[in-house]
Amino acid sequence: MSSTSRDGFTNKFGVIAAAAGSAVGLGNIWRFPYVAGENGGGAFLLVYLLFILIIGLPVMLSELLIGRKAQKNVFGAFRTLAPDKPIFISVGIMGVGAAFMILAFYAVVAGWTLEYAYLAVGNQLKGMDAAELSTFFNDFSSSTTGPLIWMAVFMVLTAGIVIGGVKNGIEKYTKVLMPLLLVIIIILCINALSLDGAEAGVAFLFKPDFSKVTGGVILEALGQAFFSLSIGMGVIATYGSYIQKKENLMFTALSVSFADTLIAVLAGVAIFPAVFAFGIDPSSGPGLVFETLPNVFNQMRGGYVFSIAFFLLLVIAALTSSVSLLEVVVAYFTEELKMKRKSATWLAGGSIAVLAVFCVISDGVFEFFDWTSSNILLPLGGILIAIFVGWVLGKQKMREELEAHGGKVILVGFLNIILKVFAPLAIGFVFLRGLGLL
Ligand code: PFF
Repeated sequence: MSSTSRDGFTNKFGVIAAAAGSAVGLGNIWRFPYVAGENGGGAFLLVYLLFILIIGLPVMLSELLIGRKAQKNVFGAFRTLAPDKPIFISVGIMGVGAAFMILAFYAVVAGWTLEYAYLAVGNQLKGMDAAELSTFFNDFSSSTTGPLIWMAVFMVLTAGIVIGGVKNGIEKYTKVLMPLLLVIIIILCINALSLDGAEAGVAFLFKPDFSKVTGGVILEALGQAFFSLSIGMGVIATYGSYIQKKENLMFTALSVSFADTLIAVLAGVAIFPAVFAFGIDPSSGPGLVFETLPNVFNQMRGGYVFSIAFFLLLVIAALTSSVSLLEVVVAYFTEELKMKRKSATWLAGGSIAVLAVFCVISDGVFEFFDWTSSNILLPLGGILIAIFVGWVLGKQKMREELEAHGGKVILVGFLNIILKVFAPLAIGFVFLRGLGLL
């Protein structure tokens, strides 16, 4: 396929919106608060922010660069750029594997979100106190039929958008709705901060207690940084392949990382004050957001409308991420295995839905997919991506691609050193330490 015949994004805002659409999702609003809550709050946030800056950003830039340079999905990209180094194809293999695992549990959580949007429309959580809301969530998430149906609905929606292709599908939905989500979260923050007892939540999130930092916490922070930015598995490389040469990749990487981090921190500000104000345990796990926010909606003015808007927008944020996950698999099936887009999408979506069934019926499978994909597969992919751009492509080719839009890019030499030495060593160290191997 020639590079001009590939589907592509129309303009700069489209690219950033789509990549930010992939990055911003349940990872920011559902996963970040629950993992931060389980890992001590403030100190976790600090380590997480550090990882975004020194590892996340360079790896995101590397992926964009690889994708755009090769104009192919991850497999094809590594094959084109380094035909004599098959080891790098493993990024693609792990990436497709990670996409299967992530989307399987992601679709389940997105299904919970659909259920909560539905409940919000019927105002069915009104009048419940914090204890009742927790029991309600636990009963619902441990049941089978409801979560299965909603998961299936979500997978069909995801497949439907992916079949539409990049320009008609992905780009159209993200441009308008992500800014709207940001506005709703800011309003939620203001409400949460005005609750009695909110200070304890603010302190939990912003006052680091370094005695809580263990190897395990650091690994969770690294995994969350990778998960939240959608890096380490080729999603951003696949999107990079749709970006035109005239776009500035550095600007794209900076904007996407900034938007993603802002939304995660704001989600924390919206949730932790409420967690403490309503006496919820911050380490309650994956149910944290679903147990906490309905309390806020119940007592806020206009809570009915806000709850509907919030859960619907969260579904949409989840969709713009899930389409990017499915797109990795579909790009592989269509470009490498020469399947038709439609059959590739249904085959990939169908098999992922089967895995998701296991996540619905077993907490163990859910947790295994959640933990392993973020904390093992994505960081491993990150090491290889950094090494590839740092050593195999090298500084000169990095500069050429980063400056392909015709401008000057500063700090390329510094970035090259980070990718060559610092990122692989740091990820490797955190990895071995977190697994108790060092
Ligand atoms: N970054 C997405 C989120 O925060 O919800 C999840 C995700 C999408 C992870 C795509 C990985 C990925 F490749």
